[in-house]
Amino acid sequence: MKRAKISVIGAGNVGATCAQYCAIAGLGDVVLLDIPATKDMPKGKALDIFEASPVLGFTANVTGTTDYADTANSDVIVVTAGIPRKPGMSRDDLLKVNAGIVGSVGEQIAKTSPNAVVIVVSNPVDTMVQRMLDVTGFPKERVIGQAGVLDAARFCAFIAMELNVSVEDVHAMLLGGHGDSMVPLASCASVGGIPVTQLIPADRLAEIVQRARVGGGEIVNLLGTGSAYYAPAASSAKMVQAIVRDENRVLACVAYCDSEYGVGGYYVGVPVVLGDGGVKKIVKVDMTADEQAMFAKSCEAVRKNVEAMKQLV
Ligand code: NAI
Ligand code: 2OP
Repeated sequence: MKRAKISVIGAGNVGATCAQYCAIAGLGDVVLLDIPATKDMPKGKALDIFEASPVLGFTANVTGTTDYADTANSDVIVVTAGIPRKPGMSRDDLLKVNAGIVGSVGEQIAKTSPNAVVIVVSNPVDTMVQRMLDVTGFPKERVIGQAGVLDAARFCAFIAMELNVSVEDVHAMLLGGHGDSMVPLASCASVGGIPVTQLIPADRLAEIVQRARVGGGEIVNLLGTGSAYYAPAASSAKMVQAIVRDENRVLACVAYCDSEYGVGGYYVGVPVVLGDGGVKKIVKVDMTADEQAMFAKSCEAVRKNVEAMKQLV
C-alpha cells in the first residue's frame, strides 16, 4: 500500500512536534516546510527527527524544505504557520498577522496539493480555517481545524487528575470556538462509562470545566514565552491518523456548520466523523440549557472575529 504524504507548514514548536508524532506513529512520509530566518532550519529539524528512526524503529521519510514543490500532492496538510501568543495576549490578538500568513499558505496549497485535506492549527483557529477555506476554494469537508481534540484532552486530563484514575477511561466532548468561552460538555463526560456528574460534585465539576476552558492560557503563563505545543501537536497528529487510516473517529473538530447546531455558516468546534477525505458527518449532541447558552455565546465570539477578519484582508 502506498504511504500517505503528510506536509506540515510551519516548523516551529507545534509543527515540528506534530511532524515527529506523525513519523513515530508511521502515518506516512512527512514534509516539514517553513519560511525561516535561517533558511536550512526545516531541513535540520526534519533530519533530526529522521535520525531518531533507527533508535525508535519507525519507517517514514522525513524531509525539510522551504519550497512548496516538495509538498506537492500531499494527502494531508497541517498548517501551523503563524505567531503564537505571549502572556497577556488572547488568541484573537493574533488575527491580523496570522490572517496574512494563513492566506499566503493557502494560496500555495491550492496550487500544489489541490486534493489535500487541510488541518489548520494557527490561531485564532476558528477564523483561520475560514480564511483557508476562502483562499483555497476547497470543499468545506476538506478544510478543518484542530482545537477540540486538544481542549477535550485537557478536560479529560483534569477529570483523571481529580479522580486519580487512568486517562484512558475518561471520555469527554467539547463544543464551540477555541476561546475562553468554549463549552466542555460535562453532561457528556464519563469515566469507565459512568457519567462524570455521578462522580464529581457539581461545584467542583464547574471548576474543572472552567480550568479546561482557560487551559491554553494556563500553559502560556507557565511557559512565560510561546504557547502549548506537545498536546496541540499530539492532537493534530491524531486527526491526521483518523484521515490517513480512514478511522471514522468521532472527534471534536473545527468544522463548517451551516444548518447544523443553528450556527448559520461559520466554523466552530463540533463532534464530527473524521476519516478519508475529511469530515464525513457532523454529529448532533443534546446540550443542557446552560451548555446551550454557553455555546451561543461562544459562536457569537467566532462570528465577531470572522467579521473583524473580513475588514482586514
Ligand atoms: P512557533 O513560533 O514555534 O512556530 C511558528 C512557525 O511558523 C515559525 O517557525 C515560523 O517561521 C513559521 N512561519 C511563519 N510564517 C510562515 C509562512 N508564511 N510560511 C511558513 N511558515 C511560517 O509557534 P507555535 O507554538 O508552533 O504555534 C503556531 C501557531 O499555532 C500559533 O498561531 C499558535 O497560536 C497556534 N496554536 C494553535 C493551537 C490550537 O489548538 N489550534 C494550539 C497551539 C498553538
Ligand atoms: C492552546 O490552546 C495556544 O490555542 C493554543 O494552547
